[in-house]
Amino acid sequence: MNRIMSGTPPSTRPTPRPGVLDIAAYVPGKNTAPGVAKVFKLSSNETPLGPSPRAIAAYQGWADHLEEYPDGSASDLREAIGRAFGLDPNRIVCGAGSDDLLHLVAHAYLVDGDEAIHTIHGFLIYPIAALGAGAKPVVVPEKDYTADVDAILTAVTNKTRIVFIANPNNPTGTCLSFDEMKRLHRGLPPNVLLVIDAAYAEYVRHNDYEAGIELVATSENVVMCRTFSKIHGLAALRLGWMFAPAHVVDAINRIRGPFNVTGPAIAAGIAAIEDVEHQQRSREHNTRWLDWLTHEISKLGLKVTPSVANFVLIHFPETKGRTAKNADAFLTARGLILRQTTAYKLPNALRMTVGSEEANRLVVAALEEFLGKS
Ligand SMILES: Cc1ncc(COP(=O)(O)O)c(C=O)c1O
Repeated sequence: MNRIMSGTPPSTRPTPRPGVLDIAAYVPGKNTAPGVAKVFKLSSNETPLGPSPRAIAAYQGWADHLEEYPDGSASDLREAIGRAFGLDPNRIVCGAGSDDLLHLVAHAYLVDGDEAIHTIHGFLIYPIAALGAGAKPVVVPEKDYTADVDAILTAVTNKTRIVFIANPNNPTGTCLSFDEMKRLHRGLPPNVLLVIDAAYAEYVRHNDYEAGIELVATSENVVMCRTFSKIHGLAALRLGWMFAPAHVVDAINRIRGPFNVTGPAIAAGIAAIEDVEHQQRSREHNTRWLDWLTHEISKLGLKVTPSVANFVLIHFPETKGRTAKNADAFLTARGLILRQTTAYKLPNALRMTVGSEEANRLVVAALEEFLGKS
């Protein structure tokens, strides 16, 4: 029986499923500074070193085959990732960025009325993916800008189906230790999927950190998402991967687009993951300038949340003329584009990607001037 026959008044136009119109659409970092000749985009956590030259060559190699569909199972890429991390390629799914995989997980595991937990300053895609699947995002507090395992566990109800956690988190740059992540996992019912989003894992130097591989390998309800957009510098190609239990891989493979990863992305991804020296150079650059920025910006009297990723969260006072909004305008006028974090419930902060030496030095000098200290 259709809805007209059953007596439900017909809509005058198609309506999206419940939740969709509650979504505040994701707004990417700015990339323009009107009237400024040279712009430094430090708003999207892109690597200042760019991709591996080998990845660029592999990408260009595809130009002569654009009429061909890619391998829908991305098997060469999954094997390359498997070799790099010692993983079974059958337990890997690739996606058009890790965003694609986060949405796929939400659509595979959430139905109307389910709950998906994320932390208050967690990555913005989590509530978007949950609402898009008809579920309710449940927001929990953090402690010192860090995910709070007890708060997450307290929020679990019999409607909870997913816990999304970015480790390290964007935009705070903080992370949970492996022990804390294990404690979180131990406290979750077995039917709740723990989604560890480790987009910035390659940058972390803490020896008590584990990206998620071990937990995925030893349980049935944990997945780990990774991306080629950050340390590998392939954000434009949209490429991510997920390591998951076999039953989750099976579910995701049933609903993903059959060619959700492009041929050029597969080719570039293989070259990128195999170019270990390039990754090492990127990590070394990041380590050096992350420490320098944290030190120099703190010296100016601004609070910087200690970060393990490739960006820093800078906190500004609420004093008129010295706010995050004022600083953003001041920096943008000089071609230095940082990320506003109001949508992350951090209206008094800006997030800055670790940039080139030139960009980093310019931001510190500009902040000094902004604060009247130069
Ligand atoms: C925590 C986190 N997860 C996922 C992503 C998405 O990455 P991708 O480009 O692979 O979709 C980002 C990008 O900013 C991120 O910060």
